[in-house]
Amino acid sequence: MLNLPKSTIGVIGLAVMGANLARNFASRGYQTSIYNRTFSRTQELVFDHPDHLQGFEELKKFVESLELPRKIFIMVKSGQPVDDIITELLQYTDRKDIITDCGNSYWKDTQRRQEQLRHKINFVGCGVSGGSLGALHGPSIMPGGVSHVVDSLLPYLQHVAAKDFESQPCVANIGEGAAGHFVKMVHNGIEYAIMQSIAEIYDILRSKQNNNEQIRTVFSKLNQGSLQSYLLDITEDILETQTQEGVYLLDLVLDKAENKGTGGWTAISAIELGVSVPSLSSALFARYASNRDDNPTNTQQVYQKLDDQGISDHAVYNLSKLLELGFFASYLQGLELIQKASDKYDWKVNINEVLRVWEGGCIIRSQMISTLQYYTKPNPYLQRDFITKFAEHIPKARHLIAQTKAPMATNNASLDYILTLLAPNLPTNLIQAQRDYFGEHTYIRTDTGETVTGGWNKSNG
Ligand code: 6PG
Repeated sequence: MLNLPKSTIGVIGLAVMGANLARNFASRGYQTSIYNRTFSRTQELVFDHPDHLQGFEELKKFVESLELPRKIFIMVKSGQPVDDIITELLQYTDRKDIITDCGNSYWKDTQRRQEQLRHKINFVGCGVSGGSLGALHGPSIMPGGVSHVVDSLLPYLQHVAAKDFESQPCVANIGEGAAGHFVKMVHNGIEYAIMQSIAEIYDILRSKQNNNEQIRTVFSKLNQGSLQSYLLDITEDILETQTQEGVYLLDLVLDKAENKGTGGWTAISAIELGVSVPSLSSALFARYASNRDDNPTNTQQVYQKLDDQGISDHAVYNLSKLLELGFFASYLQGLELIQKASDKYDWKVNINEVLRVWEGGCIIRSQMISTLQYYTKPNPYLQRDFITKFAEHIPKARHLIAQTKAPMATNNASLDYILTLLAPNLPTNLIQAQRDYFGEHTYIRTDTGETVTGGWNKSNG
């Protein structure tokens, strides 16, 4: 029997992301073994891309084909399928081998798996962003786990990753424990928020009877400077796409947005950690709201009659400022969430490295990341002073929102978030007073710094 050379890399799960990741490794010259539950898929892939790919029908043979320590990347559906494949792999692997879960796994599952596998195998939770083409040509890669194990994977991952603004690979040791999957989850939360902010701008423009070509022209003007971004690039492409019959394809898409769960996990994690992420959560809720039961045709007349003042001559400038606020608030909320989780779980995440890894390959890449880098570099903790830079945009953004009747869930949330950060005093003194009034929950007196209760004129019990 032919003695094939051992493979450097193993990839399990050959749906589009896994297949493209395997092809990416193979295209960099790595001998890559591949395995999929359905063998015909493995055969197809090897047939189409024979160079450096070796397919296996049996998991045991796949494992045996790998050089030691084995580097196995799994890209299967999150949840039980990940546990199932790990259990199977453990029959054939060694203690020093490395299993890297590259799917969108819930970070708490990753934490649990790392704990369960601690004495059995090395387990890395790795976020991969960039969609199917990213996986093929260069994704943004966010691995987390035991530091020296993650470090040992970096030379391989650096070859397949996208490039940052300085042409360095968009991969870094994100941090310990489940940091990799947490950061990828937050990436997706930000993704939801930026997508919703863009969709709301589209709604403003559409409600002014602009056709898709006109809207695309506006978006091409917005897609500049710090807003230059992948999500605006694809929005432009989407807006100009027509069917063979000359109909805009976007106009044929039903307005119900789905999700696969990562945005929900982001909101849950933010609640658990006590971090305010209104842009991220509002974008998730906007998707839920779009799945309303009725198509409200009977409300159309009422809606049409609602006042809409239209957008003024300075529309593009104002739209760009509103969108900048949206992008900025979304990144900021996500970064705060990551920092809080890192502090709580002692993951030692470097926010600057996270931003660098997001400079290329991922869905939320944009020029604004360099601004954020500039402000976060001197200090690992986020600096608030640069928020003032956005203060001057607020009146225009507020004015724009007031002029339209299009629902502005996320742009409004972003605007309010920035205002909340800017306001020297919040009205929450009244909340504390009310809590103390009816429940003696105490409050801090600003004149003495003491925690006290009572002192109210109580005519209402
Ligand atoms: C990426 C994306 C990707 C995600 C899709 C769909 O970074 O490549 O975040 O991982 O799965 O965008 O997410 P939803 O189905 O939840 O919209």
